[in-house]
Amino acid sequence: MIRAHKVLALIEAIQPTHALVLCYFLETNSKQCNLVDKNVIEIGAGTGLVSIVASLLGAFVTATDLPELLGNLQHNVLQNTKQKCKHQPCVKELSWGIDLEKNFPRSSCHFDYIMAADVVYHHPFLDELLLTFDHLCKNDTVILWAMKFRLENENRFVDRFQTLFDLEIISNFPSLNIILYKAMRKGRMNARSSKLKI
Ligand SMILES: C[S@@+](CC[C@H](N)C(=O)[O-])C[C@H]1O[C@@H](n2cnc3c(N)ncnc32)[C@H](O)[C@@H]1O
Repeated sequence: MIRAHKVLALIEAIQPTHALVLCYFLETNSKQCNLVDKNVIEIGAGTGLVSIVASLLGAFVTATDLPELLGNLQHNVLQNTKQKCKHQPCVKELSWGIDLEKNFPRSSCHFDYIMAADVVYHHPFLDELLLTFDHLCKNDTVILWAMKFRLENENRFVDRFQTLFDLEIISNFPSLNIILYKAMRKGRMNARSSKLKI
């Protein structure tokens, strides 16, 4: 098991990493946020750390990224989860905004959680990213999103995000400018909270 808390203390000494913040949360809140047998998708998975930890915590995980990243992602995910997980994770292409209905049909894809770490920064696909959250998110889906606040333009994404989703801060790391958000479709947060903590 990757012990996120052991490395979180080193965050400021090494590259600040949003994925670690999210992993730390998952590991230390595994009762309230029980991932066993839950369907999880990670978007912009990069090296796959969040997907690996979610798999080790018992979820059915789909780790996604751009096609050119999938080889490395597949390697990392396999190396760290093989014969260690209840459900073997899968790695799949998801280029934000592209072929969403073809590759992730709304009628058959249901995710309990969408996870995303450091997907909002200076890139030209913020509209497509929002479209992707919107496409994948059902009424009972919880989004766990670690966001670093950098420039005004990217920060405005949070305002646009809030036109579709209710946001709640679940962890704040001011010295890193990183916030971990929980989000759900507008009006759904309380409906879920009455049944589950997270
Ligand atoms: C800054 S990295 C974060 C990686 C990982 N989530 C982490 O926190 O370590 C951003 C990730 O988003 C992915 N990404 C960027 N643009 C994308 C797009 N248009 N569609 C899908 N993924 C994209 C990149 O390939 C990269 O893996």
